[in-house]
Amino acid sequence: MSPESSNMREKTPSESHAEVIVRMFPSDANPAGNVFGGEILKHIDMVAGIVAQRHSQSNAVTVSMDSVNFLKPVFVGNVLTLNARINYVHNSSMEIEVRAEAEDIITGIRTVTGTAFVTFVALDKNGKPTLVPKLSLKTDDDRIKFEEGKTRMDIRLKNRQK
Ligand SMILES: CC(C)(COP(=O)(O)OP(=O)(O)OC[C@H]1O[C@@H](n2cnc3c(N)ncnc32)[C@H](O)[C@@H]1OP(=O)(O)O)[C@@H](O)C(=O)NCCC(=O)NCCS
Repeated sequence: MSPESSNMREKTPSESHAEVIVRMFPSDANPAGNVFGGEILKHIDMVAGIVAQRHSQSNAVTVSMDSVNFLKPVFVGNVLTLNARINYVHNSSMEIEVRAEAEDIITGIRTVTGTAFVTFVALDKNGKPTLVPKLSLKTDDDRIKFEEGKTRMDIRLKNRQK
């Protein structure tokens, strides 16, 4: 496996961090105004993909999503903020953690509504898995998240369907 990007220097998680802000519309929701889980998943996948591509500087595809939790409802009119950071990398795989927060724009109240872990794999020009830069772990939080990410990845790979 050889790297796709010529820039393989180690990168910190903060270098690839991404935040996406979207407004929820009636077409995103059921008739009672509750936003569909699938609509939120789409945004989770998209923001995680930005992080994966920023880190790898290559094409990257979703290979798994897990620990998806919809903690509180999101309603039409809410502003959804999705924060994503990279926790763990191996050879071509990257675990991205996403946290979604809904804001009632009138009251200003923000609530954490969802969390998920998304694994991306970096691909070369032939669509084959390719090496990604290592993570430079600067803070205790980075180091803890890396170790937790490694534990989750081991479980993920043990449970995966081939
Ligand atoms: C991503 C893909 C190329 C991996 O193919 P593969 O045959 O499993 O490749 P490998 O066995 O060489 O694994 C490549 C990496 O993926 C990781 N991986 C594979 N399946 C995984 C899973 N279910 N969860 C987490 N990581 C996984 C492997 O651990 C390996 O990581 P490493 O290089 O860091 O060690 C292939 O599964 C694929 O094309 N999937 C479709 C992706 C896609 O289109 N997504 C959009 C939604 S449809």
